[in-house]
Amino acid sequence: MELNVSLFKFYQSLCNSFLSFLQKYQSFCKTNQSSPFPNQSPQKLNQSLRKTNRKQWVLIVFYDFQLKLLKNNWKRAGFNKQRKGNTLQRELRTEGFLKNEDVIEFQKRFGEAMLTSKTLQGFCCVKPHGYSGDFEIIDKIYTNSITEDSKFSKWDYFFHTLAACKAVRNRKDYFKQLLKTKANDINILNLASGPCRDMIEYLEENPKSEISFDCVELDTNAIEYGKNLLNKSTIKQTKINFINKNIFKFDTSKEYDLIWSAGLFDYFEDKVFIRLLKRFLKNIRTDGELVIGNFHPKNPSKAYMEFGFWYLNHRTEEDLIKLAHACGIEDKNIDIKSESEGVNLFLHISKT
Ligand SMILES: C[S@@+](CC[C@H](N)C(=O)[O-])C[C@H]1O[C@@H](n2cnc3c(N)ncnc32)[C@H](O)[C@@H]1O
Repeated sequence: MELNVSLFKFYQSLCNSFLSFLQKYQSFCKTNQSSPFPNQSPQKLNQSLRKTNRKQWVLIVFYDFQLKLLKNNWKRAGFNKQRKGNTLQRELRTEGFLKNEDVIEFQKRFGEAMLTSKTLQGFCCVKPHGYSGDFEIIDKIYTNSITEDSKFSKWDYFFHTLAACKAVRNRKDYFKQLLKTKANDINILNLASGPCRDMIEYLEENPKSEISFDCVELDTNAIEYGKNLLNKSTIKQTKINFINKNIFKFDTSKEYDLIWSAGLFDYFEDKVFIRLLKRFLKNIRTDGELVIGNFHPKNPSKAYMEFGFWYLNHRTEEDLIKLAHACGIEDKNIDIKSESEGVNLFLHISKT
């Protein structure tokens, strides 16, 4: 398919913005000795990107990720408003301008930094556990992990500055703060517990806590990882119980004071979200609470994440309220909160 002139111009403007992204990245890297692009100097990369064949321009579009360009350029690109919710990347795929091979080729342009799990963004692209948002990348974000290979370390310092990473770290603190507001001996159902860093930190920081957790987690490696962290921790007696189950096959009659799920529901379409929410409503005690985390569409790192094929269903406050309504929950029992970046929202549902 041929690109039309206005789209072509649009890509050109994105390219210019990409070049300014490169400059920003370069200045971010200035203090470090290693090259920002291990396989290619930025100057060389700029030159090659300036060549104007269709494929290159399409590929260049991806470099807008840090610059919120998608949001600012929708009108100029002539996309209609209903489709605004999609990212340009998805849009281009639908239009047939872009194939997965293009993205992969583009990823290669970044050289090793995108193709090795030594860097955090490479880890996101390579997906050593077979899916996005696994326990290991989440824990690397929680712990501000930096690669031991100094050639790549700047990429990781850069990665941790992303709003999405800050939001993930904030949600750990959000969970710990929430636990502090509860009684000392409540029971919690944690849906998709991942690395368990949040619970372990809480129990270490609150050694007198009597809280018990039931953790439903699909990935046995995540459970092993959590158990390992637990063994290495200072927690003497643990009340963390692991249930290795797919959430879709997990049902229980047990009641909980708190049901918590972060980093799971934003992978689900609305229908699935509603089905699961309805299922777990019955498990909240009369004075209990259910809290679901979901990323907001204003997430500035959205395009960057999608560059690594990390797709989420971003939802606004209104979207979350609608989903709660669809489960028969009244406004008085709904509250929406957020961590300080405003990227990770939390849908709070109470029974009374
Ligand atoms: C992004 S992590 C979030 C982990 C944790 N809640 C946190 O915030 O640190 C998502 C986790 O969901 C788990 N998961 C994904 N699909 C699942 C499913 N269908 N049932 C249970 N767990 C699932 C993954 O294995 C992964 O550990």
